[in-house]
Amino acid sequence: MAETTKAYTWHKIFNSEAEAKEQVPPRKLRQFTLDGRTICFAHTFAGFFGIEDACPHMGHSLSKGNTNYLNEVICPWHSYRYDLTNGKECDYRSRNARVYPVEVREDGVFIGI
Ligand code: FES
Repeated sequence: MAETTKAYTWHKIFNSEAEAKEQVPPRKLRQFTLDGRTICFAHTFAGFFGIEDACPHMGHSLSKGNTNYLNEVICPWHSYRYDLTNGKECDYRSRNARVYPVEVREDGVFIGI
């Protein structure tokens, strides 16, 4: 069930932090479609992140890629790398990817759209 606050509509994607960690282990990615947008959910050493799933370069699915120690998601097609905190492509080869906030709350893990 979605909840709307001033800036975002929040979507619960897991019932708890433990469930999120179990279903998406560290360094793994998972695709979600929320409000008609396809989002790549990432679990890294720095926490949970949300970023648009379609690579800004040529649209391949970032959730089919990998993450690295720099907290970036790496596109599986041409290996462009996007910072998960701000969506910046590391070598300025494309526009930035849109990022979505992730919140861990007592009642679950949420993504803001
Ligand atoms: S489509 Fe992602 S790097 Fe080219």
